[in-house]
Amino acid sequence: MQGMIEKRESIGIIWIDNPPVNAISHAVREGLMSAVENASKDDSIKGLVLACRGRTFMAGADISEFASAIKHPWLGEVIDCISESPKIIVAAIFGTTFGGGLEVALGCNYRIADPNTKIGLPEVKLGIIPGAQGTQRLPRVSNVEFALKLATIGNPVEAQEALDAGAIDKISTNDLVDDAVAFAQELTEQKAPLRKSHELSISSEKYDDAFFDEFRKTIFKKMRGMAAPECCIKAIQASVNLPFDEGVKFEREMTIECRDNPQSKALQHVFFAERLASKVPGLDKDVPLKAIKKVGVIGAGTMGGGISMNFANAGIPVKILEMDGAALEKGLGTVQKNYEASAWRGGITSNDVEERMSLIQGTTNYSDLHDVDLVIEAVFENMDVKKEVFSKLNETVSPDTILASNTSYLNIDEIASVVDHPERVLGMHFFSPANIMRLLEIVKAEKTSPAILATVLKLAKTIKKVGAVAGVCHGFIGNRMLTGYGREAHLLVLEGARPEQVDQVLYQFGMPMGVIAMADMAGLDIGTRLRQQMDESEYDVMSTAVADRLVAQGRCGQKTGAGFYDYQAGNRTPIPSKITQAIINETAEKFAIKQRKIDEDEIISRCFYAMCNMGFDILDEGMAFRSSDIDTVYINGYGFPAWRGGPMYWAENTVGLKKMLEGIKGFSEVHGDRWWKPSPLLQRMVENNLSLREIVNK
Ligand code: NAI
Repeated sequence: MQGMIEKRESIGIIWIDNPPVNAISHAVREGLMSAVENASKDDSIKGLVLACRGRTFMAGADISEFASAIKHPWLGEVIDCISESPKIIVAAIFGTTFGGGLEVALGCNYRIADPNTKIGLPEVKLGIIPGAQGTQRLPRVSNVEFALKLATIGNPVEAQEALDAGAIDKISTNDLVDDAVAFAQELTEQKAPLRKSHELSISSEKYDDAFFDEFRKTIFKKMRGMAAPECCIKAIQASVNLPFDEGVKFEREMTIECRDNPQSKALQHVFFAERLASKVPGLDKDVPLKAIKKVGVIGAGTMGGGISMNFANAGIPVKILEMDGAALEKGLGTVQKNYEASAWRGGITSNDVEERMSLIQGTTNYSDLHDVDLVIEAVFENMDVKKEVFSKLNETVSPDTILASNTSYLNIDEIASVVDHPERVLGMHFFSPANIMRLLEIVKAEKTSPAILATVLKLAKTIKKVGAVAGVCHGFIGNRMLTGYGREAHLLVLEGARPEQVDQVLYQFGMPMGVIAMADMAGLDIGTRLRQQMDESEYDVMSTAVADRLVAQGRCGQKTGAGFYDYQAGNRTPIPSKITQAIINETAEKFAIKQRKIDEDEIISRCFYAMCNMGFDILDEGMAFRSSDIDTVYINGYGFPAWRGGPMYWAENTVGLKKMLEGIKGFSEVHGDRWWKPSPLLQRMVENNLSLREIVNK
């Protein structure tokens, strides 16, 4: 039963016990409310402690109740009951006191926290706002700046920061509940004020419109396009300008506005998609996973260094192998510099730098890798070089060491063909910068065993990545879909759109940057070099012609100070270029393309329909388990706006599959069907009225 009361002398402890995370289900709300009502009438109880069993204080709402109408008592009613109680109530918080859990604690009169507690209001990440008075109570209890930070960005903070901001009153030094009881006793003995959080006031002088506008600017980049953070800001502004009860009503309006916005459904899809991505369909839950205690990395270049940092950050020792001492020294030097830069920014301490560097050792000798559990190869993108590395690994490491390649495009089955026990080979495709980007695309080769796949999916979590599984195909999920997206952007430029116009439309759509500026950032010469080794039948000559001509003139992108755009020294802001425009015009003429005015709708549909059509093919070929994995890849690896739910979710829920199919057919008529073949899966889905949720591959 929820809300059991244990008495310790004059203090009553209300216990909540709803494993695993004490989600605030209907039973919890009911139990808590009646416990507070009963205790309030009990004269033998002078003060109360609200405590939870298990691994955390209430960690938020019960998500399983989201789908149906929420039953009384609502959380707001329970919190009203707590805050109106004549007895002092101390919340004893620990674990992840998030969302509704924090709102309950804010309804109490005082808060004590275990030193490892994290508090947070992550609702914005699900497209909603704290809807149980959190936006009204937190600014009153702590301060407006802290409330804005917590609620509009959605990231949790540690107990010490919460204490400094006044959101909690104490950090326990011994047993949390014992300390909470002692605190409650002390408060009741001293006849401390009830300090009801809704009666606290906020000085409105400091927090005028200009203050909130300034705050909006600070989060603009991070929260661009999202509706919930703005609703949060407005609700917190209401806490400054309105009496508590009216503020609560306004918070309710904002909650409904967010709930009715399609973004909240999209973000909830993303939340579940990320969790689902770590599950291998049909895999026996009891399959034994391999422990990864030591890791080897081959190649200390851009990717190898970043990959190693992930493991060192998680406390896992890494050995990096390079061709020679000089390359090794250079690579380790870059890692050291990266760590020092994060220490300088305040992300880690100088002690952390030392500790993490001590976990990364360099070598030029394969025999030093004899005891690692996993090796990740990150050498040049060349099949012969990769095969040579894998052959050497085959001879030197243990036959059950997992062997992974970070290749962007190459065939993992072919790489696996040179080793014994190919069931231990797979792709671990990190994204640059590898120590920062959240995505880990895990490539399941033909023979990869499910246990190895599950081991690496679990490892992804250990190193704080979002893992998603792809099959072996050119570019896997992410880079394969990027091909169509980039091709259309470049063709649109030949057809008359300006590069900055295309990039601006893609940016407005929510992408972190336009795909043409992105090509400049990555370096145009990489693509040109790749195409020089390819047959013209393997790529689109027209869409790549401008880039190749730019490279021929030494305009390789940001690194040479000019590419599609011009750049001023030391500045990465793209400046539209007359030289590029002249090359574009000449190239269009050469291909007899009549330039025309192109609108925003066409830019969006050409670029993203091409991306999605490829996504349907990937799903149809079984290269992704489910469409939500494709969404996970695009959001975490390529910055597709999460509030649009990912490209596949967007295709189904915003555009509509029928409209997308018609659009693709239309483009096929105009531009030919070489690149615009409607995906057979998309056609089948439209014909049979299927939903993406029904398509699951094994
Ligand atoms: P890089 O050129 O920066 O580094 C490659 C490193 O491997 C060099 O330090 C080189 O000395 C070393 N190396 C080459 N052959 C070796 C051998 N036989 N034994 C030991 N070390 C050897 O290249 P980068 O960018 O780090 O790429 C590595 C791999 O990661 C490639 O397969 C690439 O396609 C892939 N990748 C690259 C991404 C990027 O954005 N740079 C993103 C995702 C994957």
